[in-house]
Amino acid sequence: MTVLVAGGAGFIGSNYVRRRVGGGDAVRVLDKLTYAGRRENLEGLGDAVELIEGDIAERDLARGAVEGCDAVVNFAAESHVDRSIESPGEFIQTDVYGTYVLLEAARDAGIRYLQISTDEVYGDVEQGSATEASPLDPSSPYSASKAGGDLIVGAFARTYGAEALIIRASNNYGPAQHPEKLIPLCILNALAGDPLPVYGDGMQVRNWLFVEDFCAAIDVALERGQPGLVYNAGGPDELPNMEVIRGILELCGRDESLIERVEDRPGHDRRYSLASERLIELGWSAEVGFADGLERTVSWYRDNESWWGPIRSGEYREYYERHYGRSLGAPGEAPG
Ligand code: NAD
Ligand code: DAU
Repeated sequence: MTVLVAGGAGFIGSNYVRRRVGGGDAVRVLDKLTYAGRRENLEGLGDAVELIEGDIAERDLARGAVEGCDAVVNFAAESHVDRSIESPGEFIQTDVYGTYVLLEAARDAGIRYLQISTDEVYGDVEQGSATEASPLDPSSPYSASKAGGDLIVGAFARTYGAEALIIRASNNYGPAQHPEKLIPLCILNALAGDPLPVYGDGMQVRNWLFVEDFCAAIDVALERGQPGLVYNAGGPDELPNMEVIRGILELCGRDESLIERVEDRPGHDRRYSLASERLIELGWSAEVGFADGLERTVSWYRDNESWWGPIRSGEYREYYERHYGRSLGAPGEAPG
């Protein structure tokens, strides 16, 4: 089987490519290699992976990439909420328009299309958990763009009979996540002795899912899911950010004096929670608990400075200064 993995050079996409190659499949990756996409993420996978560098929103490129594939899994997106507040246009372009272009290419080729989406489309979940029937109520330009992409996928399934479906995950964490996201940001700052920026009161709750568990869920949806349906994939643990940060400090041998409260994110959702019964009925369940997954993640960052060193000294450094109004410790000043 040949799978087209759009956005396969990013965090979750590259973990998924590794899983498919490990299972004996050939993978074609279509990736624009934005600041978040890296060739290094596909290193060591040999001839089983073909990388096409380009934009999912370019019609001819998308159609060419789909040709000869048996299925499309679309991870390609602008993915960081804070950056969407700074510049929403790129999110609408890729997450809405790009999704449409790639989806249309898959429909015309008559192959299955799985859209990777997010629990953020349901917005704040004050009580209980969001099911696939919960209304869409996105809060940020990122989540609104993802909701737009999802609506187009649903419309293509219903109107054209496209073999298209959606999987919505809660917060992923694990190896090779860009350090703009909370967990790797805090791990690298803790190792370097930099302050850990906590938005607002730090009591926002996220539903953490280890990336390998999510990759397993994707295969269940791709192989056994029904076109036109949505499948939620939620993590086993719901934790306030402050508890996550305390866990990281402990694993990195640092104390709480590194915690720094900073201005809250505008429109910040207080809580996400997903009910995943549909996927559980198909045989999926998350296996990695948060304590175990966090330990594995911290070890990975400790062991892979060659991966994150260049990121912490490049575009991310400028972004960090712009966003947090302070600079990071000098590159290479880690790990303690
Ligand atoms: P990421 O930012 O690490 O990776 C995104 C990848 O998409 C990068 O390789 C980037 O180069 C590529 N890309 C961006 N724009 C593109 C374009 N126009 N054409 C082709 N490639 C493009 O993101 P991630 O955290 O791995 O998330 C992957 C997907 O999963 C996204 O769709 C995101 O919305 C969704 N998701 C992420 C999480 C999470 O916790 N990280 C949770 C739920 C859903
Ligand atoms: O819920 C799924 C979503 O999870 C995905 O769709 C997104 O692509 C992914 O980026 C992630 O979004 P979040 O906004 O939840 O992740 P982030 O790591 O940016 O933030 C997690 C929580 O930590 C959130 O409540 C904001 C807070 N935070 C984040 C950063 C970067 C801080 O307190 N300080 C920070 O510096």
